[in-house]
Amino acid sequence: MKQHVTPFGDGTVVLRLVEERDLETILAWRNRDEARVWFKSSDKIAFEAHLSWYKRYLQKEDDFFFLIEANGRPVGQCGIYDIDHYAGSAEIGRFLVAPDMGGRGYIKRSCAELVRFGIDVLKLPNLFLEVMERNRKAIELYTRCGFAEESRSNGLIRMNFNQEPAR
Ligand SMILES: CC(C)(COP(=O)(O)OP(=O)(O)OC[C@H]1O[C@@H](n2cnc3c(N)ncnc32)[C@H](O)[C@@H]1OP(=O)(O)O)[C@@H](O)C(=O)NCCC(=O)NCCS
Repeated sequence: MKQHVTPFGDGTVVLRLVEERDLETILAWRNRDEARVWFKSSDKIAFEAHLSWYKRYLQKEDDFFFLIEANGRPVGQCGIYDIDHYAGSAEIGRFLVAPDMGGRGYIKRSCAELVRFGIDVLKLPNLFLEVMERNRKAIELYTRCGFAEESRSNGLIRMNFNQEPAR
């Protein structure tokens, strides 16, 4: 069963666990052509499949999926998953900004908060992510958050966190 996580944030963004009532909203964000092409599984997802995924996610203890709120409104999503307490590692990702909310720094702030949550709360020093090498915007964002390229193959770059993110 998934551990409860008290919402956290930096005063501008709040990260709280995704709930079933959020699924339609985040699926609509994710299914936009300009968004889905940046995910490894880039096909459009039907609501029933999304709901099934969410129900499986609820049973997992190694995966936390967050809705990002600013001024009480949903502005994006992100997650930390494949948590391995033995290796002290986890992947972060599923970053997505809501339509018309891009470029306001919400995702950069959320990335910094997620890193803090991973390192300080979950005690996982080895955070990493994967990003398509064509996704310049995301790569720049992750670099600003303290990630650096570790390796690349098949069009994907793996980046490791190796410094405190700038606030
Ligand atoms: C990637 C994404 C999440 C960024 O969201 P955003 O709202 O633009 O990001 P923020 O405003 O929080 O972050 C701003 C940072 O992103 C980077 N960035 C944003 N737009 C950029 C651009 N056009 N070119 C280069 N870097 C850019 C910069 O580092 C910027 O920091 P700065 O303002 O200090 O320069 C958003 O574009 C998105 O949802 N893309 C589709 C899904 C996706 O690609 N997800 C990542 C999968 S790995």
